[in-house]
Amino acid sequence: MQSLEIKGGLKLKGEVEISGSKNSALPLIALTILSNREVQLENVPNVVDIKTLTKLLQMLGAEAQFGGTENNILKIDSKNINKTVATYDIVKTMRASILVLGPLLARFGHCDVSLPGGCAIGARPVDLHLKALEQMGATIEIEDGYVKARAENGLIGADIFFEKKTVTGTENIVMAAALARGKTRLFNCALEPEVVQTCEALKDAGVKITGIGTETIEVEGTDRELLNIEKIRVIPDRIEAGTYLVAGAITNSEITITNSESNHIGAIIDKLVEMGFSFHIKDDRITIIPALKIKPVEIITAEYPLFPTDMQAQFVALATQSNGTSVIEERLFENRFMHVSELNRLGADIKISHNRVSIHGGRELHGADMMATDLRASSALVLAGLVAKGTSRVHRIYHLDRGYQNLEKKFLGLGANIKRIKGIL
Ligand code: EPZ
Repeated sequence: MQSLEIKGGLKLKGEVEISGSKNSALPLIALTILSNREVQLENVPNVVDIKTLTKLLQMLGAEAQFGGTENNILKIDSKNINKTVATYDIVKTMRASILVLGPLLARFGHCDVSLPGGCAIGARPVDLHLKALEQMGATIEIEDGYVKARAENGLIGADIFFEKKTVTGTENIVMAAALARGKTRLFNCALEPEVVQTCEALKDAGVKITGIGTETIEVEGTDRELLNIEKIRVIPDRIEAGTYLVAGAITNSEITITNSESNHIGAIIDKLVEMGFSFHIKDDRITIIPALKIKPVEIITAEYPLFPTDMQAQFVALATQSNGTSVIEERLFENRFMHVSELNRLGADIKISHNRVSIHGGRELHGADMMATDLRASSALVLAGLVAKGTSRVHRIYHLDRGYQNLEKKFLGLGANIKRIKGIL
């Protein structure tokens, strides 16, 4: 296992390029299952989750090659897929593998996809995905830990009412609906930019789809006729962008992020402004200007376009630097505070009460060993290490490698003192 060693207390400077969105690239990789030709995905982040899903498609019979870290081009030809079993050994490493369920079932009429277990941040069921597919005519059985889905005569368009907004649920069902027979209307859809990109890719491939970016999406299916999907450029990663803006904020430094989309991070910028920071925004460049003093903040996580749960941990770390008490409430996941005990090891004063944390800022943090537990919590530990006096080490950073491309290289480019070391844990 590997760790990151950070010598904290340094100001950052300069600029950092944001990579493509992991959470947009993942459904787009699954989308290639619906294509009648090789698909070229551009601006794909070179992170473990992308490699995992690509490997899954290769196990099913797709051909794929990554253009490498520089040009971040991933070419996938899923035309010759001849297997429809997504096995536990690969699904257990990444729950987003459930995204192959809708496309495989829509195209082949059958598939067995291992049920993704829960993960560190919560149970994360997929009941809404399964219920929707049953409403589209599929028979779904759970057997030996697998979702065994059958729709031998293809899926049939239906009205789908999502009882909760679900990002991958919306993506899964929109993709399934694209190859169904007849019209599917999806109600209470997730509005995330990643969902929008999946819908736009279907529209660009000729699928009749309306309501993109709204809570009600209508899809006229092609009745299993494959789609002509050629080239898609993945949108910037809004959570990575937010993470680096918080790196500037927590060290109270002026830094610029490039290749970003400010329209996707309005709620994040809004909270940073509330905490005393200001911004210069021009095209794809966003510069954060230090605060005269960092003010406490109140945050409730919610679905897009409101404050994203994937930025909650990073703001808990930032709030330790404010001159008051902040309160952050997590409304999407039941166990997404594992970073708190690690941050308290640095001398932070954070208390948890049910789904809410209160952060009493103004105490100096001192470097210590910390354990990463999930992707976004790990980034919060790195951010705290940047500001803690002395040396911090974040262990089990395979969590970080799932979703942040070249993290230490990017931080080194901003002037941080950070290096990857052989882990002791
Ligand atoms: C996506 O997960 C993201 N992952 C997550 O990012 C993100 O935290 C989450 O959306 C919320 O924004 C990807 O896009 C690959 P949901 P997803 O379905 O789709 C409940 C990261 O850090 N629910 O929108 O799995 C669920 O338990 C990851 O990159 C059901 O009850 O999340 C949760 O409480 C972490 N039944 C809420 O809905 C279902 O069938 C939102 O989940 C589906 C979801």
